Amino acid sequence: MIELRGVTLTYPNGTRALDDIDLEIGKADFVFLVGHSGTGKSSLLKLLYREAIPDSGEVIVDGIRVDKLRRGKVAALRRNIGVVFQDFKLLTHKTVWENVAFALQVTGARSKDVMRQVPRVLDLVGLSHKSRMLPSELSGGEQQRAAIARALVNNPKILLCDEPTGNLDPSNTTEIIELLQRINLKGTTVLVATHNQAVVDRMRRRVVRLENGRILHDDERGYYFRGLGQSPVLSG
Ligand SMILES: Nc1ncnc2c1ncn2[C@@H]1O[C@H](COP(=O)(O)OP(=O)(O)O)[C@@H](O)[C@H]1O
Ligand SMILES: [Mg+2]
Repeated sequence: MIELRGVTLTYPNGTRALDDIDLEIGKADFVFLVGHSGTGKSSLLKLLYREAIPDSGEVIVDGIRVDKLRRGKVAALRRNIGVVFQDFKLLTHKTVWENVAFALQVTGARSKDVMRQVPRVLDLVGLSHKSRMLPSELSGGEQQRAAIARALVNNPKILLCDEPTGNLDPSNTTEIIELLQRINLKGTTVLVATHNQAVVDRMRRRVVRLENGRILHDDERGYYFRGLGQSPVLSG
């Protein structure tokens, strides 16, 4: 579903964010992307939804060479990829319903489809009863659930989450990670960049660790720190 081959990304100021990355993620996989701040996690996600273009290597998403994609095809790619951020990025003057509906409307969806899809995803994230509220009237966990509903409303094959629990307390964090797991079980490929050691160690899913723009290790059923398990001493 996702494949990176020999990918290097250098920003215009000369920062080498990713260096010779090879990575393969299968359909309906669930992968944690971990590593210190500034190590290239967000950059790797950006390559997948064409927010960044590598200076060398290949980025393949669902059979498409994303690094070679023509500008006119970027919108179609992004309909196939839901993205969720730490700070939710909800439109503050729109209700939950409107935020979710907007993501469909910009694709030119018919109102019949909006009326069908919006309730479906609001129900999936458990926010049906708050659909008329504004983001400011919701808790952080609820705002993130609204953002996840918005990311899923186009039925993407892939969900990318960049520090999705970075602004949440432990109980909301657990709720969001369990939601991501349920979404994954329905067949969506889920890639989560995170600093949250407790979450990674509890879930025991595939863990890809970046360090200085390179893949340091890639473990099935991994831990945040390889081999250390639930070590409370280290952070990062
Ligand atoms: N738009 C940008 N321009 C220049 N450098 C950037 C830009 N975005 C990120 N970087 C740099 O690229 C490196 C990787 O950043 P990033 O992918 O955001 O790491 P992470 O998400 O792991 O914290 C860092 O050194 C960061 O400062
Ligand atoms: Mg980041």
